[in-house]
Amino acid sequence: MPRIAYVNGTYVPLRDAAVSIEDRGYLFADAVYEVWSVFDGLLADLDGHLNRLERSLRELKIDMPMPASSLLVVLTEVIRRNNIREGMVYLQISRGAAPRDHVFPVGVKPAVVITAKPVDRYAAARRAEAGIKAITAPDIRWGRCDIKTVGLLPNVLAKQAAKEQGAGEVIFFDRDNCVTEGGSTNVYIVGKDNIIRTRSLAANILAGVTRLNLIGVADQAGLQIDEQPFTVDDMKAAREVFVTAATSLVLPVVMIDDTMIGDGAPGPVASSLRELYIDHARATAGTW
Ligand code: PDD
Repeated sequence: MPRIAYVNGTYVPLRDAAVSIEDRGYLFADAVYEVWSVFDGLLADLDGHLNRLERSLRELKIDMPMPASSLLVVLTEVIRRNNIREGMVYLQISRGAAPRDHVFPVGVKPAVVITAKPVDRYAAARRAEAGIKAITAPDIRWGRCDIKTVGLLPNVLAKQAAKEQGAGEVIFFDRDNCVTEGGSTNVYIVGKDNIIRTRSLAANILAGVTRLNLIGVADQAGLQIDEQPFTVDDMKAAREVFVTAATSLVLPVVMIDDTMIGDGAPGPVASSLRELYIDHARATAGTW
């Protein structure tokens, strides 16, 4: 079955899907995106991602291309046409296509692209059971990492460096040596006091939707969450480290640079939070 994409109002086979070479997402990274996890054909953390999308667009003064209810219809239709039960949906909205000029074009409609792909949950579970390796790198990104833009070149370069060192994620640190977030994830540590620490949204990081819901799940499980900054050394000395995102859900980190975390195996807090989060996401996944 060919994969189907939604491009500016039409559903087309992925191989025929195209946008203008003057699309501002292509020229200037003048675009935002969202990624939803799909469980049993339904969108996980639906409202959280929609709310953040609307905020990202507002911050960049890009108009919402259609009402949220219509967008949900299209997202659902892309899932259906691609026959996705377990997978993810990618949505990108750019300011639109116009002759290259840095200032905003007038009277141009935002461009919308949506794709979906299946995810092998079995393979993902095996990866989480093993835990991943991460590297650390200075956070050289711009000052508005709270906006989910497609301007991801520092993330791309750092994640490629991680891959070349046999690692699955990069963890960024700021000028004070404090951890900000991952290349495409939020980062958490579990201390000897069993308290979970993650960087506050007051820092220059993305407000992960998985983070938001994980905090709720952890709270319900009676786990304490603290948003004070922690250093790379604190992280390496932690009992457990894990990362979250719509793609990787909750993923234990067992090695950072050359330091083993805990005993080198996923710890009980990360492992149980992964289960609890997935149960929560499945139970609350929805559609239009
Ligand atoms: N990335 N921080 C960064 C820099 C991210 O790119 C992401 C997600 C997150 C986690 O956000 P959420 O929990 O809402 O997925 C944090 C997506 C999945 C990506 O770029 O593929």
